[in-house]
Amino acid sequence: MSNRTFTMVKPDATGKGYTGAILDQIIKAGFSIKAMKWTKLTKEQAGEFYAVHKERPFYGELVEFMSSGTIVAAILEKENAVADFRTLIGATNPANAEEGTIRKKFAASVGENAVHGSDSDENAAIEGDFFFSALERF
Ligand code: PPS
Repeated sequence: MSNRTFTMVKPDATGKGYTGAILDQIIKAGFSIKAMKWTKLTKEQAGEFYAVHKERPFYGELVEFMSSGTIVAAILEKENAVADFRTLIGATNPANAEEGTIRKKFAASVGENAVHGSDSDENAAIEGDFFFSALERF
């Protein structure tokens, strides 16, 4: 089991000024930040990142949204990082998320759901490599 995961604060949350509060909740939950950057994806880059969802009906909407504004991308470290981070952020649809989770507090809808969290160790590594070179993390 790896001890790292990958996250993005999505454009809805950065645009509403929630970045600081979300990062604060992540750090207070015991995650340490091993790499972080503010950036904005082009449509092509967002399409590549989410290529695994290409056949799903919401793919176009997801790519449009994720390239619509600033994001904060980060690699996080903690024991059992992938599973613990998914618990911290809550269900994909904030309507189904537990009280106190990041999506319950900061997300508006299943599309604009404030944060991304990798769903496996393998994808955490792939997603971290998408955003960060070896020089940009430790
Ligand atoms: S998950 O987290 O991978 O289990 O969730 P999944 O349902 O497979 O969704 C994958 C990503 O697609 C986003 N999503 C949507 N976007 C727009 N509209 C709709 N209806 C929708 N449903 C799901 C969801 O937020 C996931 O994005 P990430 O960045 O992986 O959280």
